[in-house]
Amino acid sequence: MHKDIFAKCSTAEGYFGQFRAQGDRYFTLPVMESTPGTVMKFNGKDHIMWSINNYLGLAENEEVKQVAVETAKEWGASGPMGARMMSGNTVDHIQLEQQLAEFAHKESSILFNYGYLGVIGTIASLVTKDDIIVIDKLDHASIVDAAIATGVDRRNIRAFNHNDMDSLEKTLKKVNEVREKGVIVLTEGVYGMTGDVANLKEITALKDKYEARLFVDDAHGVGVMGENGGGTGEYCGVQDKIDIYFGTFAKAFASIGGFSASSKEVVEWIRYNARTQVFAKSLPMIYVRSLKKTLELVINGQERRRRLFEVSHKLSQGLRDLGFFVGKVETPIVPVFVPLGDLRVTMDWIQYLRNKGIFVTGVMYPVIPKGFMMFRIIPTANHTDEQIETTLQAFRSLREDRNLKLEMDESTVSRIYGKK
Ligand SMILES: Cc1ncc(COP(=O)(O)O)c(C=O)c1O
Repeated sequence: MHKDIFAKCSTAEGYFGQFRAQGDRYFTLPVMESTPGTVMKFNGKDHIMWSINNYLGLAENEEVKQVAVETAKEWGASGPMGARMMSGNTVDHIQLEQQLAEFAHKESSILFNYGYLGVIGTIASLVTKDDIIVIDKLDHASIVDAAIATGVDRRNIRAFNHNDMDSLEKTLKKVNEVREKGVIVLTEGVYGMTGDVANLKEITALKDKYEARLFVDDAHGVGVMGENGGGTGEYCGVQDKIDIYFGTFAKAFASIGGFSASSKEVVEWIRYNARTQVFAKSLPMIYVRSLKKTLELVINGQERRRRLFEVSHKLSQGLRDLGFFVGKVETPIVPVFVPLGDLRVTMDWIQYLRNKGIFVTGVMYPVIPKGFMMFRIIPTANHTDEQIETTLQAFRSLREDRNLKLEMDESTVSRIYGKK
């Protein structure tokens, strides 16, 4: 008797297997009962929401909604029909790409329907069999999947320790001893889970020194980092040294889709060779037109960014004052690490906070290293000081009622962030 491919579905294996086996809809796939905002209904009750990537608060923006409504009247829910290559290309798509290229200080850009597919499409279109890919150990799943999708031999995918420049240099040196073809380094700009910033100054210097190319997935940095929201490259002063700059619209832009920006020649190559877009219907006009409006708001978003960072700093300072270990907050993400949380304890803490009307998400190994849990708190520009205060009160009660041990030693901290 051969084993049935579906046999695993009745077990507790696979991602979040225990939760799936128990039919969970509280910790995994929680059902939200209202539209995105700083307060959202969950389980019939209002919660202060710290778990959506709506950094600039644009998900609630009335001007963007208005553009979407007007566009839907003209184009329907999904027009234009067809792939860009065949019949889905429009002047609006082209204009948006030009505006994004200008925004990213690159010659050209290409739209993708999802960030995830954009990362895969871009990398898989460029990397061929004997090229070598160098990735940061904490890179997002889309980058890892992109590396695999290229079809290069697994030995040609080399990982360096998270944001550790000695480790990157060693890797590039070794790679150069054996390389027959090209090398590309794939990093994030802002690491979405831990909230730290890639050391792009050194990464760009190293990729030049070892004659590699650099792709930066700035999903969490675009619109947020830098005076003009131009992203982590702008923030680190090295945007011109990034070979391919990638942003998604699913976070600060509060939309869907993404873009790769680079030289005209490279973008044209991607346009004709990225299978995830060549063989997919074009981005609906509702998104294209509303994204043009959003881009304007992002570019003129200095006040929103100022407030976003203010919320982040108030929250992280308040948590530190309560004795919590808050990781690096160079970006708006507030990562709160607590040692020794096993799954049950973590679930209890999350539930405790939600019972107090605070919606946060907890993250554990394998997303972060073993030995502790992390509350991943995501501020938005729209959160109020009162909401921050209520949240801090809930964390204070959690600390006291659950008698939390909060001390973190140096070696634990370096396991989170790697060596600089
Ligand atoms: C670093 C990174 N890259 C890519 C993606 C995928 O983007 P999207 O949600 O637009 O598909 C995400 C989203 O979680 C991300 O955090």
